[in-house]
Amino acid sequence: MCGIVGYIGTRQAYPILIKGLHRLEYRGYDSAGISLINESGDLLVYKAKGKVSALKASTEGCDTHGTIGIAHTRWATHGEPNQANAHPHYSQSHMLALVHNGIIENYKSLRAELEHHGMIFCSDTDTEVLVQLVEYMQTTHQCDTYTAVHLALKNVVGAYAIAVLDKRNPGQLIAARKGSPLIIGVGKDNETCPAGESEFFIGSDATPIIEFTDKVIYLKDEEVVMINRHGKCAITNLDSVSQTPQLCTLQLSLDQIEKGGFDHFMLKEIFEQPSAIRTCIRGRVNTQEHRVLLSGIQDHCAQFKSAKRIIICACGTSWHSALIGKYFIEEATQIPVEVEYASEFRYRNPALSPSDIVVAVSQSGETADTLAAIQLAKEHGCFVYGISNVIGASIPRASDSGTYLHVGPEIGVASTKAFTGQVITLIMFGLAIAQERKTLPTELFNQLIDDLALIPDKMQWVLDHTGDISQLAKIFTYCHNFIYLGRGYNYPVALEGALKLKEISYIHAEGYPAAEMKHGPIALVDEEMPVVVIAPKRGMYDKIVSNIQEIKSRKGRILSIVTEGDVTVKEMSDFCIEVPDTRDSYAPLLTVIPLQLLSYHIAIAKGRNVDQPRNLAKSVTVE
Ligand code: M6R
Repeated sequence: MCGIVGYIGTRQAYPILIKGLHRLEYRGYDSAGISLINESGDLLVYKAKGKVSALKASTEGCDTHGTIGIAHTRWATHGEPNQANAHPHYSQSHMLALVHNGIIENYKSLRAELEHHGMIFCSDTDTEVLVQLVEYMQTTHQCDTYTAVHLALKNVVGAYAIAVLDKRNPGQLIAARKGSPLIIGVGKDNETCPAGESEFFIGSDATPIIEFTDKVIYLKDEEVVMINRHGKCAITNLDSVSQTPQLCTLQLSLDQIEKGGFDHFMLKEIFEQPSAIRTCIRGRVNTQEHRVLLSGIQDHCAQFKSAKRIIICACGTSWHSALIGKYFIEEATQIPVEVEYASEFRYRNPALSPSDIVVAVSQSGETADTLAAIQLAKEHGCFVYGISNVIGASIPRASDSGTYLHVGPEIGVASTKAFTGQVITLIMFGLAIAQERKTLPTELFNQLIDDLALIPDKMQWVLDHTGDISQLAKIFTYCHNFIYLGRGYNYPVALEGALKLKEISYIHAEGYPAAEMKHGPIALVDEEMPVVVIAPKRGMYDKIVSNIQEIKSRKGRILSIVTEGDVTVKEMSDFCIEVPDTRDSYAPLLTVIPLQLLSYHIAIAKGRNVDQPRNLAKSVTVE
């Protein structure tokens, strides 16, 4: 959670940092702050409660000059979201300013100790402990800030990405990470420019950096970096042993992180799904040879051939895609698959063995619970396979092998194209294992490949036919509760549809397997209750028709998602949205799209901020 951006170079830092914060705002928007060292050598800190726009407004008329600075957008964990708790935090002497993403678990004992030594705190945050600790180390060890950061971090338990400014040293910026991401952007012309003219950027991800350079260094856990105006980028571990930085090239373009004519990122990302999924399967689903090419599996063939069990760990929307993955992988490979909430799995004592494959599914690749789950799996000797969208993120780096979604950056907090990307990747994962283990008849396997390749066009059909459901959404704007029902492969879609509605419209919604209704939830149904039923023609169609009858006879209002041309369910429904026919196991890739659009339009009709819903952040890097 929280976004960090930093700059050192020859340009004015303020506009770069504010723009960077806007790009990172999806990570948190409770408060924002910025720190600069101006031309007179003053260490300035400006903070505001609320969004980056509030920070920008509050700095109007203030001194914002300076060619070095750090900035932060916060998703509150310790301490309410107010100005005092916003980052950056000063040290007691106001010589240092620090921003932090993560959680310092032992902050209470550290704070008590520092208070015992006379240090006075101005906030309720765990972060302030860090900056005070660095200052304390500096004073007691009579050392420079870089050394003091090492000493301080050795005493810290928890996760952090930090950036530090030192008033006494306006030509250098210090940063470090453990468990929270941090990237260093290396100025385009650093190699050719004269000493004193090079520049560096830092960011929680690449979005604030890509406009300026595509050359980056991914800082590793427990690494501390010192960058200066003369092109120096020194990286050491916490024991001050020098590390060799690896320069990487970003696979990202600026237009991928902009709205491209859409009102919101979420809407853009919903409409991007056909092309995103096409990119996701390109080079991997080969319809000529009827093969799936996933190097993450083919390079570790023996592991997958002998696997006794697959455990998929994920959170939120990724957990829903994992459930669909389970149904498909079991069907295709006959390997038992379990799906675990990463947040529960990491604190259980699961019975794991080296013949288990643990799959982590995470859009961001940074979710703290999912990362901890795979660390636990590794301790038990399991083979870890990471499915993530963000290249170079912590989860793919911690995995033994894996697959990237390649659906492009997802900025809207509500996950849409990453969900369909994860579902199709898990389907390819199942097919690739089935190919190695020869668990499917050739004819069926070939048909599965051919049908998969048709999905992007079918997604486009859904968008072309149901793109504007804003009128339908208006009918439901004033409802307080929703029920979503599905069976088989569409049960996780019901969960996902309900989650989408909850998170962006703040309407209470529950997803159920349709047949479970009669065991209790049907008591909720009356003429006020909208029931969204996902009922495509295949799978358990007849069964779900009976479930709809049960709802109808209790006067529930039915909105159904049906296969194009369906008559039976359509006649039973108050409202109906059609999707093209596809095989049962691929239906979620189509049926979820109208549900994404429905929640988007209901949220818009309610005047919600769909890209930045309250209390949420895109990347949950805290437990
Ligand atoms: O980045 P991840 O896929 O690991 O994130 C997991 C969840 O936090 C995420 O899916 C969340 O539920 C989304 N807001 C759903 O739209």
